[in-house]
Amino acid sequence: MGATKRLISDEIGLSEAAAILRGGGLVAFPTETVYGLGADATSDDAVAGIYAAKERPSFNPLIAHVASLEAARQEGVFGEAALKLAQAFWPGPLTLVVPVADTCSVSDLACAGLDSVGLRVPSHPVAAELLRRVGRPVAAPSANRSGRVSPTLAEHVLGDLDGRIDAVLDGGSAKVGVESTILACLDGGVRLLRPGGVPRDAIEAIVGPLGEEADPDDAAPIAPGMLTSHYAPRARVRLNARSVEPGEAVLLFGTEAPTHLDRAGAVLNLSENGSLVEAAAHLFSYLRHLDASGARTIAVGPIPEHDLGEAINDRLRRAAAER
Ligand code: TXA
Ligand code: MG
Repeated sequence: MGATKRLISDEIGLSEAAAILRGGGLVAFPTETVYGLGADATSDDAVAGIYAAKERPSFNPLIAHVASLEAARQEGVFGEAALKLAQAFWPGPLTLVVPVADTCSVSDLACAGLDSVGLRVPSHPVAAELLRRVGRPVAAPSANRSGRVSPTLAEHVLGDLDGRIDAVLDGGSAKVGVESTILACLDGGVRLLRPGGVPRDAIEAIVGPLGEEADPDDAAPIAPGMLTSHYAPRARVRLNARSVEPGEAVLLFGTEAPTHLDRAGAVLNLSENGSLVEAAAHLFSYLRHLDASGARTIAVGPIPEHDLGEAINDRLRRAAAER
């Protein structure tokens, strides 16, 4: 990738940023909390680019940013509490994790394979206008490399990601400076997943006392599988398989095939030409597909540990341990 374009948030800059996003590229943009690193949330390939640019060593579900509550209701199911919260705090620094709707267009990778989706309608005028022009959900974690602080200025974004993303849309400084509050509205109750820009008191004034759960990003992985934010296949997962047992479903990478592949039930290859970005894009949808084949075990061939391989292997190791 060449140099990162710096776009001014005028008519021309906004339409160019929207065109890049619609074409599957990566654009950092301001929100009222922090700058987000945006990609078309409906494209597994575009979302894989976010992970490659950030060098994130694990796949967490990403927030899908949309222009309005109506747009959000295409993606997620809003119960009574979620609806009240959206009406009270959107647009603004609140993310609602809700069950995916039948009409959900957000990719499996952005949802990290889960049946829930994190949605937010930002209030920053540049973000709002960009989302209106893109006309699709935009996945965006904070626009920093993994392990660095969240950026509140376009300069911060460039300091971390120059040359790794297509463009940054400069909209001045992000005002809140802390990330959005994340609430899960999944089974009647409301749980706090991450404190943030909307204070607890304001939320409790709308829906009463909150249940609590640590931010999956911060929580020590006490017991793999306990984190509700991780997708677990029903099938057992067997890693570094060099040989296939009868009836196993098989997940491959590249050209190296295990022995006795003819015994396999279903076989999918994450990337025949050995691209880790392509493999990341396919990971969750292929796991789901193999799980749905009814096989009791999914045998996974070896995947290199470099670049996105680290995040792919992290996810697979969790899937293998989740029992
Ligand atoms: O203010 C913000 O929220 C910023 C701006 C750019 O909008 N974004 C941000 O994204 O902080 P990120 O990726 O750093 O944090 C997203 C958090 C993760 O901890 C993730 O686990 C949680 O949202 N999340 C998203 N969807 C989820 C889901 N379906 N279930 C559980 N957690 C979810
Ligand atoms: Mg972050």
